[in-house]
Amino acid sequence: GTRAIVRGVGHYLPARVVENAEFEATLDTSDEWIRSRSGIERRHFAAEGETTSQMAIAAARAALDDAGLEADDIDAIVLATSTADLTFPSAATMVQAGLGMSRGFAYDVQAVCAGFVFAMANANAMISSGLARRVMVIGAETFSRIMDWTDRGTCVLFGDGAGALILEAAEGTGAAADRGILAVDLNSDGRHRDILYVDGGVSTGTTGHLVMHGKEVFRHAVEKLADTAHSALDKAGLAGTDVDWLVPHQANLRIIKATAQRLHLPMEKVIVTVQDHGNTSAASIPLALSVGRHEGRIKDGDLVVTEAIGGGLAWGSVVLRW
Ligand code: ACO
Repeated sequence: GTRAIVRGVGHYLPARVVENAEFEATLDTSDEWIRSRSGIERRHFAAEGETTSQMAIAAARAALDDAGLEADDIDAIVLATSTADLTFPSAATMVQAGLGMSRGFAYDVQAVCAGFVFAMANANAMISSGLARRVMVIGAETFSRIMDWTDRGTCVLFGDGAGALILEAAEGTGAAADRGILAVDLNSDGRHRDILYVDGGVSTGTTGHLVMHGKEVFRHAVEKLADTAHSALDKAGLAGTDVDWLVPHQANLRIIKATAQRLHLPMEKVIVTVQDHGNTSAASIPLALSVGRHEGRIKDGDLVVTEAIGGGLAWGSVVLRW
């Protein structure tokens, strides 16, 4: 059958970098606490007026350059975000216009921090079914706009940014037989809404701020991330020992380490960017894929496992061979 293979990847980070120590001026916190509890050292924040779609356009352009493609070579844009510029239109259609793309279709996907995994699953299904041949999958967020700057338990953990991955149809024979997306596992459980949510939205009349019960989220994360990655590997007929790179959602270094341990993967096989990016929600996986690829670590033919969990709860994993 038809496979969705990786054609290019790129990312964008806003210019402003905020080191942990900057929070010491306004909050009862310390670089030492943030570093030891989360692994985060710094994060990027969007400039005033800089939006999710603008960052997504920059990431998409970088991915097009990497792929050697033009905007009109893309059939569809699937953009994962919880922080779109406007209630509507979708950020994806803003990206479409921003790239000067005059064809195809574009829409947003909302599964919070698991958004990029859900968007890749979406793109994979469209490519396998023949609905689209080339899909630009983007994760882009401005979580700095939904922080409660008085809540030291959350506002030090998040950052802004965007990453983009171009997936392309290839016949699953010959050289492509073993490449591309090999398996997907998606889950959600709406009973857990109260441990991670934004206390506002369109139909409640405010923008709201992120609220998190960190310990509860932590407990679910470690268990569910290892389970979903195992399920996806099982579906692909592969084992942990086959994995070249774990590219996890970058929320917290302790969650990343615990998940890697459960998958029996040494940290040398894990792409970690959380120290420099913080938690960028749906943008964290494409950012990490782009950094890992452009630093020369992820090579053609490498088996990559991505996994993420976020508000909902929603969680999942995609296994692909680059
Ligand atoms: N600086 C200093 N002290 C702090 C800070 C801070 N920034 N934040 C919290 N504390 C204090 C707490 O108030 C608490 O004090 P107390 O014992 O006097 O009450 C103490 O530190 C310990 O707090 P805990 O919450 O128990 O700390 P924990 O070790 O669990 O670490 C953390 C907190 C980092 C939030 C952790 O629970 C975590 O990472 N959870 C998962 C978060 C996550 O990954 N979320 C993203 C999911 S994806 C998404 O969709 C957004």
